[in-house]
Amino acid sequence: MTQKNYRHALNNPIFEIISKASDELGQDSYIIGGYVRDFLLERGATKDIDIVTVGNGIELAKKVANLLPDKPKVQVFKTYGTAMLRHEDIELEFVGARKESYSEESRNPAVKEGTLHDDQNRRDFTINALALSLQHETYGELLDPFSGIKDLENKLIRTPLDPDITYSDDPLRMLRAIRFTTQLNFTIEEKSLKAITRNAKRIDIITKERIVDELHKILLADRPSVGFRLLEETGLLVRILPELIALKGVEEVEGQKHKDNFYHTLQVVDNISKNTDDLWLRWSALLHDIGKAPTKKFHKKIGWTFHGHEFVGSKMVYKIFKRLRMPLNNKMKYVQKMVLLSSRPVILAEEEVTDSAVRRLIFDAGDDIDDLMTHCEADITTKNPRKQQQYLNNFKRVRQKIKEVEERDRIRNFQPPISGELIMETFNLKPCREIGQIKEAIKNAILEGEIGNNYDEAYAYMLQKAEKLGLKK
Ligand code: CTP
Repeated sequence: MTQKNYRHALNNPIFEIISKASDELGQDSYIIGGYVRDFLLERGATKDIDIVTVGNGIELAKKVANLLPDKPKVQVFKTYGTAMLRHEDIELEFVGARKESYSEESRNPAVKEGTLHDDQNRRDFTINALALSLQHETYGELLDPFSGIKDLENKLIRTPLDPDITYSDDPLRMLRAIRFTTQLNFTIEEKSLKAITRNAKRIDIITKERIVDELHKILLADRPSVGFRLLEETGLLVRILPELIALKGVEEVEGQKHKDNFYHTLQVVDNISKNTDDLWLRWSALLHDIGKAPTKKFHKKIGWTFHGHEFVGSKMVYKIFKRLRMPLNNKMKYVQKMVLLSSRPVILAEEEVTDSAVRRLIFDAGDDIDDLMTHCEADITTKNPRKQQQYLNNFKRVRQKIKEVEERDRIRNFQPPISGELIMETFNLKPCREIGQIKEAIKNAILEGEIGNNYDEAYAYMLQKAEKLGLKK
């Protein structure tokens, strides 16, 4: 079972200290999980390090803290028998080796002490069950009872036990399997994939926060579509984001088809991932077409339409965030805005690009205008190279026009040149509807290019508008 020595993985002095502390307690300790996996994959040293000890994990954490010069605070999670401490930029998690049995209804395990092998058995994947010894005599030796090293080489996600047991024990692991596959460019073993499909409905017992964490990680991979395809194939996606599944399929009426908006969406997410690492811009790409399922209609004359899908979609964003217990904050508003505006530059590019249309777009998008253009470029999924080039050129023109108009008119963070207070003072008004009307009229005149975005022209326009409303100075 014992294999090659990986002492060189342990060049951080913290490992010597853990080794010493374990020795003093007479407990065998090992590094296990992500640190070992990522070291072997040469993904760089992971800052979250999991230590498993055959004995008491909390005692070991306290002992380690005591041996460290900065005496860090130990956070104890009594119910789980784990403890955590931070040292420099490293987060160490300690756990006593255990056998676990899970109840059917929840994922809270009944914990029993066990050997290292018991503990490795209860881990999610063979590549996460690799352990490095911290004992003096065997320092740096790898314990790999399930050929995790071979699976790393063959890029395979495999469970240590029968996959039905591993996934049923903690159904989040089904998402983790797909997430690791997407992040690491691995494949899920056939037997495991079948087990995920069989157990998919057990994802319902997992908290939304943990599910969203995995979705974020899938979305942040180089090619998120790999993960979303697997989520779809295994029947997980329909339980998590049924709005995306509703986009699947191509309907044909009187010889007219629309595109499959599910696969289109995945392509857009992959495209945008080449140009941005921003999680929320990627979420926007994922959700940009969700309004298409509820708005789809067939008209004899014009074919398939999705009128107002951007507005409907932006409302759906709120519902999805709420259901997934994602914070309903500025990020959510940003995604809503992206979905709402997602077709605007397209319409612009198809027609002649007028200054006023560009000003309105800049006004509505504000500081997110560049992100919106990045989204639109990613939204081009035509396989026809000539058309693709043509669309890209159109957006280039729109970008250029945005730059010109913005340099001249400074609409991006539009501040009305005439304030409500000034209107009230000038016409001796108390708060009333007319103030809003005048402000709106000035804004529209600026966006339409009737007047410049400056005080003098806006003031003159205010006088004109007020006169029409019957107001006197
Ligand atoms: N683990 C598990 N089942 C889970 C979560 C975690 O068996 N549902 C085990 C795995 O051995 C895993 C280790 O606990 O390697 C640590 O989990 P975690 O820190 O969540 O993940 P990492 O594997 O370290 O990877 P990442 O940081 O990318 O999530």
